Amino acid sequence: MKIIDGKAIAAELRADLKKKIEQSEEKPGLAVIIVGEDPASQIYVRNKIKACGDLGIRSYAYALPETTSQEELETLLDKLGKDRDVDGILLQLPLPKHLDSEAASKHIPFEKDVDGFSAENLGLLMQHKEEVVACTPLGVMKMLEREGIDPTGKRAVVIGRSETVGKPMAMLLLNANATVTVCHSKTPDLASVCASADILVSAVGKAKFVTADMVKEGAVVIDVGMNRDENGKLCGDVDFENVKDKTSYITPVPGGVGPMTITMLMYNTYIRFKSK
Ligand code: GUN
Repeated sequence: MKIIDGKAIAAELRADLKKKIEQSEEKPGLAVIIVGEDPASQIYVRNKIKACGDLGIRSYAYALPETTSQEELETLLDKLGKDRDVDGILLQLPLPKHLDSEAASKHIPFEKDVDGFSAENLGLLMQHKEEVVACTPLGVMKMLEREGIDPTGKRAVVIGRSETVGKPMAMLLLNANATVTVCHSKTPDLASVCASADILVSAVGKAKFVTADMVKEGAVVIDVGMNRDENGKLCGDVDFENVKDKTSYITPVPGGVGPMTITMLMYNTYIRFKSK
């Protein structure tokens, strides 16, 4: 069993990116917009801006008040869309309830979508012509690659069907030649489907959801969950202590997929910068 060190892989990829950016005369720029005061979002945004600084990416931070109107938000996105210095626009989600995130996201031009959430980028993923892919599932693929795990011919099971993780994750694994099953809350006998997986990716958001009986001997287990356990400690979806010895590779939480996500945002920003 090997515990995949996401922090170390992320650090390597960042060092690589940093070097490329240092060698470039112009620098990439990322606009990060947060609306309101959600504490988790504030931490994510702070970390994203810090990562930009570490890598030599110029960041443009916009912290808008909770009372921002749809029109004000869209006006800002339109302005950033036209700004030559801005290569990527990240609108931190979720937005306050009175705002329509789908309508707002349409004001981020496709060429500046660094989340891979736009219809165009999702379409390219489905056509196996990926340009910018959602950061978390992309981070998972980079981890597998770094560990020399080739999904070709493997049975992969993804638990969760969100637009941001589950669906793009399944498509990436399919594009990498795995045989893919997506499980969700309406899946009958979910445990036995999971137990057939050579590669099991959990993106459910429930502590200790994946138990040892759901894991095949020798499986690769990737934990995308970010939960709090009964003591308030950060944990993933997988009952790590009881599952780990059955696996060939497993990602911990924290220190697994998490550090990869922001790294992939930096990577996507760089891709957009290079292709402008
Ligand atoms: N909120 C939580 N994760 C994400 C993400 O990957 N992108 C955006 N825009 N918002 C998020």
